[in-house]
Amino acid sequence: MVETPPVVSVLDTYEKLAEVYDAVTDVPGYSQWMKIFIDLIEAHDRPGDRLLDLGCGTGKSSVVFNDLGYQTTGVDISPAMIKIAREKKEMSSIDFVVGDLCDLPDFPEMFDAATAAGEQFHYLDDAAALRSALRSVRSRLRPGGLLVFELNTAGTFATLCAAPAVRRGSGSVVVLDGTASAPFAPGSCVEVAMDSFTEATDGMWRHVETRHPHRHFPHDEVAAALSASGFELVTVYGIQGGKLHEGLDEQNDLKSFYVARTPEATG
Ligand SMILES: C[S@@+](CC[C@H](N)C(=O)[O-])C[C@H]1O[C@@H](n2cnc3c(N)ncnc32)[C@H](O)[C@@H]1O
Repeated sequence: MVETPPVVSVLDTYEKLAEVYDAVTDVPGYSQWMKIFIDLIEAHDRPGDRLLDLGCGTGKSSVVFNDLGYQTTGVDISPAMIKIAREKKEMSSIDFVVGDLCDLPDFPEMFDAATAAGEQFHYLDDAAALRSALRSVRSRLRPGGLLVFELNTAGTFATLCAAPAVRRGSGSVVVLDGTASAPFAPGSCVEVAMDSFTEATDGMWRHVETRHPHRHFPHDEVAAALSASGFELVTVYGIQGGKLHEGLDEQNDLKSFYVARTPEATG
């Protein structure tokens, strides 16, 4: 009999990954990557400085946004990730809230912009879930507010499924290995197995194994979901060789960056 592995939720995954998350993301260029989100907000008429960092994790993205002059609130589904964020001294001026981006909590004010830095939307099962997440985000943005989020391209998922990838940081080694139920095709689901090895102070290495269920969203589905949830798609960018360009090459770009806006109030 073939055993079916239990379904993992994004919450289970990050509750387990939390204690090693900062170590495994201690890689060169992390802050520079986060700055792309702010550069895109600034390039599209920065609507204001109240920023909601969706899927903020342990606050690594939030602190970069905050330091770049945005009054940042971080929200994340994982209490363990939020607990770590709240314990960091350098993040004492940032509000961190536990919440699901598909059903965001109420906040005292509307936000001028929202970011999703990480693979948050890939954890959603289908286009209907993507639409409801985007609707939830839209409800927390003021008219004329901006949303900037990144997604993996079809090419990146295909590469992850073709062979394991090894990423080395200072004091960490991460192996990522994607499996699709059939050869990867755009719009399909991939489970990414992540083996994180982190060096402890006693010189021993710790191994944490997590599974990340991801769904690829082709550009047409993203554009349709944005429109159905009341956003205007402003521009999509692709990134290749570290350089951002307008438009998207699903096969050769590493990731896409979407910039979307809520309509201005009329009357
Ligand atoms: C790759 S981490 C990125 C964390 C952070 N933005 C950073 O740059 O370090 C993805 C985060 O998204 C969170 N996440 C995924 N799905 C979510 C959801 N539906 N609602 C809220 N947070 C979610 C996870 O718990 C995790 O902390």
